Amino acid sequence: MGEPVLWRRVVGPPNPPRQTKRHKPAVPQEVQPTTDIPILDDLDAPKQVAVTADGKRQVYLETYGCQMNVSDSEIVASVLRENGYGLTHDADEADIVLINTCAIRENAEQKVRRRLGELRAQKTKHNPDLKLGVLGCMAERLREKLLDQEKLVDLVVGPDAYRDLPNLLNEAADTGQAAVNVQLSKEETYQDIQPVRYDTNGVSAFVSIMRGCDNMCSFCVVPFTRGRERSRPVASILDECKTLVESGYKEVTVLGQNVNSYRDGQNGSTVDFAELLYRISLISPELRIRYSTSHPKDCSDALLHVHAERDNVCNYIHLPVQHGNTDMLQRMKRTYSREQYLELVERAKKIVPGISLSTDIIAGFCDETEEEHRDTLSLMELVRYDHAYMFMYSERPDTYAARKYVDNVPEDVKKRRLTEIINLQAGISLESNQAELGAEHVVLVEGPSRRSEEQLSGRTDTNKMAVFDKRDFKKGEYVRVKVTDCTSATLIAEPIGRA
Ligand code: 5AD
Ligand code: SF4
Repeated sequence: MGEPVLWRRVVGPPNPPRQTKRHKPAVPQEVQPTTDIPILDDLDAPKQVAVTADGKRQVYLETYGCQMNVSDSEIVASVLRENGYGLTHDADEADIVLINTCAIRENAEQKVRRRLGELRAQKTKHNPDLKLGVLGCMAERLREKLLDQEKLVDLVVGPDAYRDLPNLLNEAADTGQAAVNVQLSKEETYQDIQPVRYDTNGVSAFVSIMRGCDNMCSFCVVPFTRGRERSRPVASILDECKTLVESGYKEVTVLGQNVNSYRDGQNGSTVDFAELLYRISLISPELRIRYSTSHPKDCSDALLHVHAERDNVCNYIHLPVQHGNTDMLQRMKRTYSREQYLELVERAKKIVPGISLSTDIIAGFCDETEEEHRDTLSLMELVRYDHAYMFMYSERPDTYAARKYVDNVPEDVKKRRLTEIINLQAGISLESNQAELGAEHVVLVEGPSRRSEEQLSGRTDTNKMAVFDKRDFKKGEYVRVKVTDCTSATLIAEPIGRA
């Protein structure tokens, strides 16, 4: 356990105005909508903070879900550090354990609840003074349940309330009661907060540029959990990218729930996503730029031309289609047809030769017929994505689909369709990698490969993972490699020299 605590905040700027309300035991209510984000990440691998500071109240922060949550945890770490807290990588050492949650699909939510149950049991058994908090996407929807019914947590903080964390922690300590702030904001972008990059390799960093989503896809809970779309001012984004370059970073992944609907209308002129990307690309030719996650409706020709013209804007777009059938897309409220999506893909391939595409696909959405499912398979064959994130539909509370449609595709059918989608993609990914044999790529070295310290790994411009002999190359260097072999997930290469 941590040292006797210095509980009150001793350093840092004045706290922002309170938006918090003290939690009162509530009448159990029907749960409200909430949840999470574009997922590009491995839910099985929570990320953990790895910084300690002596004599301070220690916070252990565990993050589930998408890249945006990882980025948010860096903001949380910054707010806490500025306010005199230490950060620890060891939950057993912590005075405060915060779980940044994901609720995009039911299984993500269940995983977080199981973890909360474990932590709660530890608290009861070993450390009654431990404060346990839930951050992020599960906060609003499950606050009543987590606080009253299950008595799992002492702190519930929504994704727009992280500045209030020090206040809430003080409140929970002073009153012995749970503290809550789940208010969503129309303005909060955390533009002035320098994230603490506690979990990066020192080579690539996330830069959050917009928050929330206004799209209201019928299956998705993100607009409820993350609130309205808002963009961060362009100047603060450019400043953050410049600072990263000065600190030696070589790659930024620009993040937002609907990143390519970015729009900054401040200072008299409007900067859209294409313009923003262009401006970031001018900061340094050594800085690679990726982004996630985009909506096809906002993938403009201007944006494609930025990919084509700027060498350091990667030739890769994650362009979630969700489904291959127009009626299904309409039921999903995706705002494009199969044909429009395919036209966009064709345009992208024409304007940006060699562009690599990935996607998100949902199997077994409401009323999906066998024929509609086959349209997804045939679209995949046409587009030939290099990579896909594939999910079985899970109904989320209060979404349009939950209110208006019936989740009527039987579980075994959903599973079988998802398996077909996964198998098809595995074959396409393998063929796409086999077509690379003999090709040369410039890889940004991210670190040792997972299998061997003698090998390095990094991604190509087209976002393919490549593994090659270490020789005297180092993390953060650009290395030209030649592909000699592959699996469906990895290019095996031999290094040619520094690029
Ligand atoms: N069920 C299954 N998958 C979902 N996604 C979003 N909501 C759901 C849901 N209710 C998927 C979409 C989205 C990705 C981040 O998660 O494919 O693009
Ligand atoms: Fe969800 Fe659709 Fe917004 Fe993506 S674009 S976060 S799927 S509502």
